[in-house]
Amino acid sequence: MDYIEIEGGARLEGDITVSGAKNAALPLLATALLATGESTFTNLPDLVDVRTMGKLLAHIGCDVGGTEAGLAVPAGARRISIKPPVSEPKGAPYELVKTMRASVLVLGPLLARYGYARVSLPGGCAIGARPIDQHLKGLKLMGAEVVLEHGYVECKAKRLRGAMILLDMPTVTGCENLMMAAALADGVTVLENAAREPEIAELAMVLNKMGARIQGAGTAVIRIEGVEKLHPIEHAILPDRIEAGTFLVAGALTRGDLFVRGARAEHLDAVLAKLRRAGATLDVEPEGIRVRADKRPLPLDITTQPHPGFPTDMQAQFMVLTCLTEGQSVIKEAIFENRFMHVSELSRMGASIKTDGRVAIVKGVGSLSGAEVMATDLRASASLVIAGMVAEGTTTVRRVYHLDRGYEHIENKLQNVGATIRRKHGG
Ligand code: EPZ
Repeated sequence: MDYIEIEGGARLEGDITVSGAKNAALPLLATALLATGESTFTNLPDLVDVRTMGKLLAHIGCDVGGTEAGLAVPAGARRISIKPPVSEPKGAPYELVKTMRASVLVLGPLLARYGYARVSLPGGCAIGARPIDQHLKGLKLMGAEVVLEHGYVECKAKRLRGAMILLDMPTVTGCENLMMAAALADGVTVLENAAREPEIAELAMVLNKMGARIQGAGTAVIRIEGVEKLHPIEHAILPDRIEAGTFLVAGALTRGDLFVRGARAEHLDAVLAKLRRAGATLDVEPEGIRVRADKRPLPLDITTQPHPGFPTDMQAQFMVLTCLTEGQSVIKEAIFENRFMHVSELSRMGASIKTDGRVAIVKGVGSLSGAEVMATDLRASASLVIAGMVAEGTTTVRRVYHLDRGYEHIENKLQNVGATIRRKHGG
């Protein structure tokens, strides 16, 4: 298995480019199932999860083409084309869904387009149980017959009908599934208590480009007026705000001077506010955001919340930052029930963190020391890479397959701005 070796002490300086957003690419690729022909997406990130979605769509019966995975291409040039089957799509099998929960995003489109969908239940993952009850509640309200058996969910509906759906919580993929399903339903669907993440607005914009009639995306009430059919489109995927935030934290913590190309301030309000509070200098420019810092960060109190609150996907990265302040920080993980697995690894590097359920108390220390650590989930692995860059000595991060799910060639990008970091094979 690959591992990453990092020498601490470098300052990140220069220009680092953000790739296309994983959490936008995954629902957008699924929308291709709704169109009457071949859709193309560019600025596609070269990520394991995106390749998995491509494999899943091919398994379902789509013609999937585009840039060969792993082939080096200029930033933004990677593309994928997806032509859905005319009829008789296959379902989403366990062996694919178990590797990526977001496979559940084919459920809504398959049901809306073909009247039938059989998808393996995603099951939990390292950070939590990750149920899909709200996805299924919405589909039932739209008239679908939903059967759960043998670890699969099977949905049938001659044609979905518009419905009023009040979500128990602003679930991101839940809203995405229901928006895609409602786009071809008969009548108007209203999602209340909807998620407001930028990826939701991006999905609505793409669906509207395909001929859908969606209003309110980005607010807590989304109105979808169903149409008869949707036509294919070509679309460039928006930059990944979590990758951007990860690089901003790394630039601040290494006391560097880093331009994060593609970072969009309007998608990062809560993150930028916390970085400024920690003492970083941020300059928002048309093409990205410049981050500088020249002293120890200041303590922070953070509670993760649905967008536009502080994103749970940035919690682990900020925990590293709070490990090196001159005071005490409190971090509350209010979205997922088990998203502190990076704590034990950071403690092995000398961090002083006490957790009680979903609350972590972080006492700043003067420095971290390099160690052998284990990645446990996507954002935890990013936090360990950041920790390795500021620790004294060498850090080895194992199980970097977690990292490859959501960060495109991260070691190359960080090397180019001054980090001493390399990927090694085996061991
Ligand atoms: C999306 O996951 C993201 N993934 C996650 O990013 C992100 O952490 C999360 O939203 C929150 O922002 C993708 O977009 C592919 P939720 P999702 O449904 O949609 C509960 C990363 O690191 N819930 O918004 O699965 C759920 O248990 C990943 O890139 C239900 O109870 O998250 C959680 O506590 C990790 N029932 C909360 O809601 C449901 O039917 C938020 O989950 C759905 C969700």
